[in-house]
Amino acid sequence: MSLNAEIRVFPNADELNRATAELFVQAAQRRLGAGGLFCAALSGGSTPRRLYQLLADSDFARRIPWDATHLFQVDERSVPPDHPESNFRMIRETMLSRAPLPGEHFHRMAAESQDLEEAARRYSEEIADVLRPGPSEWPQFDFVLLGLGPDGHTASLFPDTAALEERERWVVPNRVEKLGTWRLTLTFPVINSAAETIFLVAGADKAEILRRVLRPTSPADALPAQRINPAKGQLHWYLDQPAARLL
Ligand code: 6PG
Repeated sequence: MSLNAEIRVFPNADELNRATAELFVQAAQRRLGAGGLFCAALSGGSTPRRLYQLLADSDFARRIPWDATHLFQVDERSVPPDHPESNFRMIRETMLSRAPLPGEHFHRMAAESQDLEEAARRYSEEIADVLRPGPSEWPQFDFVLLGLGPDGHTASLFPDTAALEERERWVVPNRVEKLGTWRLTLTFPVINSAAETIFLVAGADKAEILRRVLRPTSPADALPAQRINPAKGQLHWYLDQPAARLL
């Protein structure tokens, strides 16, 4: 667990989502104040749906410098962009269809590609074009939003998968045998280079896995989410009370 991790528990999902939206806005405004672009990487799944709606069509939207913002994906399923399982489709429905983000400022992972190695390489190039890391530097996202899966995965970094060991590449295809599918995902070194990383975890069904991740009692509790450990950045765990009830 990161030494500079902050854990906050909110009484309900609405307060949780509003606090996370505020964190996003603060990060965007801080970055803009420092000059330059605000680059965020967003997870899929179901938990962030309401957060993305808040960011796009509420008093938060007016405070976000959309023209200086670039949004990337943390991971994507190997399905077409209009598939019900697509993380891009969820982000488009909840945020992109409402927010004044310039079209070319959303960077979609083409995980439907038949050549996922090439799709991963192209996505890394898109990250390099916008974030412009120095030679042999990791790209530094300003803000990375993560979820927590019931098996302790985050992004598409699932237990017992090859991507957990990736130390060189920024984006990789990852075979998830237990789901019988491929994913594209950012890797640990890229996520851990972020300036600010937030786990957004809600619901009673996440209580047990959250306890195992945050309060491990045995080596068997070695889970991918525990390896999110920003080298220099801030790590926040934003939880609702049902998810945090075993902590
Ligand atoms: C994905 C996500 C994944 C997600 C967790 C939690 O592609 O599914 O990026 O890492 O954050 O699985 O998902 P829920 O929010 O649906 O519980």
